Amino acid sequence: MSLEEAKQVAANYAVDNFVFNNSILGIGSGSTVVYAVQRLAERVETENLKVTCVPTSFQAKRLITKHNLPLGELDTNPVIELTIDGADEVDSKMTLIKGGGGCLLQEKIIASCSNKLIVIADYTKDAKKLGDRYKKGIPIEVVPMAYVPIKKKIEAMFGGKAKLRKAIAKAGPVVTDNGNFILDWVFPNTDFEWEKVNQDLTMIPGVVETGLFVNMCYKAFFGQPEGHVVER
Ligand code: 5RP
Repeated sequence: MSLEEAKQVAANYAVDNFVFNNSILGIGSGSTVVYAVQRLAERVETENLKVTCVPTSFQAKRLITKHNLPLGELDTNPVIELTIDGADEVDSKMTLIKGGGGCLLQEKIIASCSNKLIVIADYTKDAKKLGDRYKKGIPIEVVPMAYVPIKKKIEAMFGGKAKLRKAIAKAGPVVTDNGNFILDWVFPNTDFEWEKVNQDLTMIPGVVETGLFVNMCYKAFFGQPEGHVVER
């Protein structure tokens, strides 16, 4: 089974087992969520399911409208029953690295307004410790004018390297849906206490949000090469 098929089985499993009629749903971002929205659209069509979908990014919004699913927003749906989202890595304590696609701020806002956050992913995202498998570091969304001092502060506080994200080498910086930059902090191989790290990072003026999701994830489903789904 390919990686794409592994993403799809996890997505289908989550949508088939956790989405109910008349739900307000948060729709995450990334390539795995595309399969979840496809499955959701099938269920809406065949079962006449009623759902409202609140996006976590411009990409998610386009996905929702492309499939003619009802689009919601936080103003009118401040409490979301369930959010289905991808992740870049999930550790054994269910701490997540998110933001590989640059959507971490809105993803974290939607997750914080959700009764449950479910992660769908292929088996490569399943790690014992953060950094075991995902080598690009923790995405940190920052106000553009402050990216240099923030980079220096992060490196002085924790070690490692905080790199300005660029779409391609030598190009300009990636700009998020919120008009900010992203630093990808490649952290040293230390036993970090991620909740504290997250707090310390968000205390740096100009840091808008981090891609560390601590104590936010209810369940994670990993599609396996053999075609089954492992639940954590
Ligand atoms: C975007 C995210 C994505 O959910 C994460 O990068 C996983 O993406 P994919 O499903 O494409 O592997 O956090 O900001």
